[in-house]
Amino acid sequence: MGRIAYVNGRFVRHADAAVHIEDRGYQFSDGVYEVWAVFGGKLVDSIGHFARLKRSLGELSIAEPMSEGALRIVLAETVRRNRVREGLIYLQVTRGVAPRDHPFPDPAPAPALVITAKSVDPRAAEQRAERGAAVITMPENRWGRCDIKTIGLLPNVLAKQAAREAGAVEAWFVDDLGLITEGASSNAWIVDQSGALRTRNIQANILRGVTRASLLKLASDLGLQLEERPFTPDEAKGAREAFITGAGTLVLPIVRIDNAKVGNGVPGPVAKRLRRLYIDGARREAD
Ligand code: PDD
Repeated sequence: MGRIAYVNGRFVRHADAAVHIEDRGYQFSDGVYEVWAVFGGKLVDSIGHFARLKRSLGELSIAEPMSEGALRIVLAETVRRNRVREGLIYLQVTRGVAPRDHPFPDPAPAPALVITAKSVDPRAAEQRAERGAAVITMPENRWGRCDIKTIGLLPNVLAKQAAREAGAVEAWFVDDLGLITEGASSNAWIVDQSGALRTRNIQANILRGVTRASLLKLASDLGLQLEERPFTPDEAKGAREAFITGAGTLVLPIVRIDNAKVGNGVPGPVAKRLRRLYIDGARREAD
């Protein structure tokens, strides 16, 4: 059976799923999105993603398309219809359809809601984590509201393509002060030479990663030394370990930064342990 998408109130064949040409998401990137990992057919870190969705919509004055309870039902049904056990679910809300004009349409159209789900091969993901992955660094060139999870992702797309062309999985943005902000679709972490776990503070212009928040809680419960403080590419290259977090990658060890080996070039013990414990916890608590 083929894939099924949810589009504005209806489940349709993925191949036939479409939105209007004057959807403001299509014309202006005027919308937001969320991505949940799916474990055992259930949503990982669901509460954090719902809270961020609500906040992103609020920051852009887009109405919530339905209540959280109703959304949960539609998300679960999308997962079920696509027979996803391990995978990802993507949800996008745009301001809706209106004749092209930059200001918000008045009266506001109904927000447009699209949901898709796909399966991911957990063994391939595990193998990649065992090998570790590479990142490149590049100048930060995004707007000043990266805390809103908008669908306007062109700098992220260009950064990710540059990473791919360099044989890397991710690009880390570096701001004007020479500090790493985050990845194109993940948050950046190191275990520094003092053994402290470091990731940038959320007052900076970064996305407040839900996986990041869960991992901070886990690391604090484990009694690890934590510092929400930025680091430079040189500090990252000289760190004991590096890794990234996100709904797509979970916790993924980084073993190369701009062709410099991190540590001895293999995934470090802290990142490996955090990956295992994060996945175990997420699996237990998925709902
Ligand atoms: N990206 N930073 C950016 C810029 C991101 O796009 C993401 C997630 C993250 C990690 O956030 P979280 O832990 O809440 O997934 C950080 C998703 C997975 C994506 O764009 O596909």
